[in-house]
Amino acid sequence: MGFMNGKRGLIVGIANEHSIATAIAQSLLREGAQCLFTHLPGEKNERRTRKAIESIGIADPWLAAMDAGSDQELDAVFAKIGAEFGSIDFLVHCIAYADKDWLKPEKFAGTPRAVFNTALDLSAYTYIAMANRAAPLMTNGGSMIALSYLGAERAVPGYNAMGVAKAALEASTRYLAMELGAKNIRVNAVSAGPVRTMSAMAVGGFSEILDWVVKKAPLKRNITATEVGDASAFLLSSLSSGITGQVVYVDSGYSIMGL
Ligand SMILES: NC(=O)c1ccc[n+]([C@@H]2O[C@H](COP(=O)([O-])OP(=O)(O)OC[C@H]3O[C@@H](n4cnc5c(N)ncnc54)[C@H](O)[C@@H]3O)[C@@H](O)[C@H]2O)c1
Repeated sequence: MGFMNGKRGLIVGIANEHSIATAIAQSLLREGAQCLFTHLPGEKNERRTRKAIESIGIADPWLAAMDAGSDQELDAVFAKIGAEFGSIDFLVHCIAYADKDWLKPEKFAGTPRAVFNTALDLSAYTYIAMANRAAPLMTNGGSMIALSYLGAERAVPGYNAMGVAKAALEASTRYLAMELGAKNIRVNAVSAGPVRTMSAMAVGGFSEILDWVVKKAPLKRNITATEVGDASAFLLSSLSSGITGQVVYVDSGYSIMGL
């Protein structure tokens, strides 16, 4: 019997087999959870997401199109879940977006207003927007996580506007935890070390970041997506019932180092 037996929740952010959300889903499934999914609108996106979900053993998933930048689409998906299932126990926010032309070393100061606002909207505000719609469905309490990165707290060349968006995401985690705690809903973030995914490859100098972790992190290696999946499953389960408002690092220990 897995520690997520009898728990049901929504996972947002599977683009393909390499997505961190795919590894999180795999850990949750292994522990007995029922997972619902969304994909970015568009036939090609749906096909890729479906293929990734099939790769972890679900042949006929609950899958809905959703652009998290649209309040109408967010409303529609959460209403559909409410109508079909009545309640959920967990939410996984595993999405981010910033124009990759501005995710390059030496390009931060010139970030255009629209690029900055879109990064903040899609990478941070969407956690608030989803939490606010998920909370009324968490009638027996619940747990949610979002994915962050050390660039929220330290200046990482090339991470730029995404770093500022992750800082907003981590602050939003604390404010959401404060407000939703009375309903026994826990809100945390996982700060993952670098993992080769489609989004990560958009960050200029990403390969150097991977090499640097191997040189400097206490564990002398990069993390795997499975390690993020397992830590996420723990945070979404009752095993972590006393933990809320936290940013939990799954990064081979890199974040503790001073040099
Ligand atoms: N890969 C890493 O090194 C790393 C490290 C730390 C944190 N993260 C974070 O993990 C999360 C998942 O990223 P990933 O690395 O798995 O890459 P990914 O490209 O596989 O996933 C990003 C997801 O964001 C979704 N997305 C973007 N805009 C959206 C929108 N408007 N509406 C709905 N979905 C949208 C994409 O469809 C995709 O599924 C992101 O928050 C990312 O910042 C990644």
